[in-house]
Amino acid sequence: MSFNSLFDATSYFETVSEVSESWDLVKNTPNHSEILGTHLFRRMYETAPNDVIWKAYSFSREDVEEKSEKFLVFAKRFTRMLDVAVSMLGPDLDTLQEAMYDLGAMHERYEVMPHHYDLMGEALVYALEHVLEPHHYTPATKKAWKELYAFMAENMMEGASDLW
Ligand code: HEM
Repeated sequence: MSFNSLFDATSYFETVSEVSESWDLVKNTPNHSEILGTHLFRRMYETAPNDVIWKAYSFSREDVEEKSEKFLVFAKRFTRMLDVAVSMLGPDLDTLQEAMYDLGAMHERYEVMPHHYDLMGEALVYALEHVLEPHHYTPATKKAWKELYAFMAENMMEGASDLW
């Protein structure tokens, strides 16, 4: 997938509407950052419990399960960044691309590697599936989120490419 593939796809406008509508529903769920974050990080821990990346996080697996303050603060910041990304979907993607490039460069210090993006991408669609009602999480919704995440991840990796 090239960096402009999201925008170039004939389904771009369907992707934007699927992502935006489903994200509005997520945001209308009480405690959505806590719920989304818990599903996401629980899934990542289950999939890769021994990955070295856990050393880079300021919270532990127990913090996720106990919903400790430091995990909840992180979950809010992470969700806020997703919100910013969704809000940048529009007639051109330059602003989103630049924001993700900078976010990726910021992630260099955590030594996030390409396989970590796959780990998080799978966990994100899993988490969304558990936050949204089944009739709001259709195959088209899942496809749209995978496309957006791939675009975000590609640009973040590009921003951090000095590392590999
Ligand atoms: C679309 C993908 C991603 C987004 C939107 C995102 C967002 C963020 C944000 C907003 C922060 C800063 C939180 C703060 O201000 O304290 C952060 C920190 C961090 N991110 Fe990401 N990130 C993404 C991908 C990843 C991936 C794939 C990994 C590795 C599995 C990762 C690992 C980390 C780590 C280790 C921190 C530091 C956390 C801490 O201080 O506890 N991120 N991320």
